[in-house]
Amino acid sequence: MKEETKGLRAVHLSMRVSSVQVSPTVATAARATLLRSEGRHILDFSVGEPDQGTPERIRRAAEDAMNRGETRYVPSLGIPALRKAVARRYLEDDGVRFDASEVAITLGGKQAFALACEAILDPGDEIVVPTPFWPTFSEAPRLAGGVPVFAPLDGARGFAFDPDLILKKVRRKTRALVINSPSNPTGAVVGERALIDIAQSLKKKAPDAFLIFDDTYARLRYVKSHPRMLPRVREILGERFLVAGTASKTYCMTGWRIGWLLAPKTVIQGVSALISHETQCAASFAQFGAVEALNGPQDFVSDQVAEYRVRRDMVVGALNAIPGIKCRVPEGAFYAFPDIRASLTRAMPDALTFAARLLDEQGVAVVAGEGFGCPGYIRISFARSQEELRQGLTAITTFVGSLDRRPTSRPTSRRSAPAGKEAHR
Ligand SMILES: Cc1ncc(COP(=O)(O)O)c(C=O)c1O
Repeated sequence: MKEETKGLRAVHLSMRVSSVQVSPTVATAARATLLRSEGRHILDFSVGEPDQGTPERIRRAAEDAMNRGETRYVPSLGIPALRKAVARRYLEDDGVRFDASEVAITLGGKQAFALACEAILDPGDEIVVPTPFWPTFSEAPRLAGGVPVFAPLDGARGFAFDPDLILKKVRRKTRALVINSPSNPTGAVVGERALIDIAQSLKKKAPDAFLIFDDTYARLRYVKSHPRMLPRVREILGERFLVAGTASKTYCMTGWRIGWLLAPKTVIQGVSALISHETQCAASFAQFGAVEALNGPQDFVSDQVAEYRVRRDMVVGALNAIPGIKCRVPEGAFYAFPDIRASLTRAMPDALTFAARLLDEQGVAVVAGEGFGCPGYIRISFARSQEELRQGLTAITTFVGSLDRRPTSRPTSRRSAPAGKEAHR
């Protein structure tokens, strides 16, 4: 073996690849899978995906398409029926009008965001990212040559989308700002007034900047009102308003890889060229399934929300009953994002160690806040069965109860940074 490798030079990877990290959510899920393959019983609350399968009518539509021979390349921007169905759903649900020609079908919402970055960012261009943030919001801009500029939100205020905190980071040269509502990981929902303020000030402070609105969890909201704020934002920002969305979470279609970007035609044309070289098109038969998801009855979505609400209340209630943990009630999405700083110890000084030990000692996988730019917190996905959640919460209670909670000497300790204050910045 030694003989064979003699004279071989170390493989050199591009700077691009060397600078990017595997998504922490993906990395945690991979570790959970590895432990499971070794025979451990693992409760995995790290992944952001519904536990239910795709509804039958959607599966059948894709199957029918495949059986009709829809197994070939389709146009790069997607099949016309799906582009139309996406435009129609936004008109119906949000009252915002995008023409079908302003819709690009992508490989999930992840690619929609990445393509938007590739289309609008030049090397060195800044994109403002409110923190805590979904990890792709920092890495996709970096891969496109851009520079994420983080705008820390206030944990004491539930990480609300405070226009002042966000706009403080916007400069004349800012090229983009991303708002993800409901937020992964915090579950915070942007209010109508706040979003309109953000759009107006963005236009004033950085006239060339785009607002990318990631509405991946828009249909999974627990607040009663659903203000129709997107038409006003589009009116303010015109060609500089983009929406990245997906069928993944709303319709339990994570593996289908169907998402979309709503954007002006100039951006869509650029995106079309990128898709034509990078992926060619999203899977043809999956697109037919998505047409059914968007055009068919939507009661499935409200049933899902009702179930998630029960799980959310159960998880938040159980977490708040654990001394050393404080959890806000998320308004949307399916994540709890508890503040664990008061349970940290000398031997376990940060959320990374907390999550690693919780997995090793109790077989419970959660994602450390560090992955979202927010140490001192963990993210727990409650898109799992009630039974799994019950078991997981018992295990977390046991784990925290077993800790020697003498104050740490780190700034994340209870003594030096009371829970809810600014230690996560
Ligand atoms: C905020 C946010 N945007 C986009 C996505 C992309 O989802 P997908 O690529 O599965 O459509 C996710 C997935 O976790 C997300 O949390």
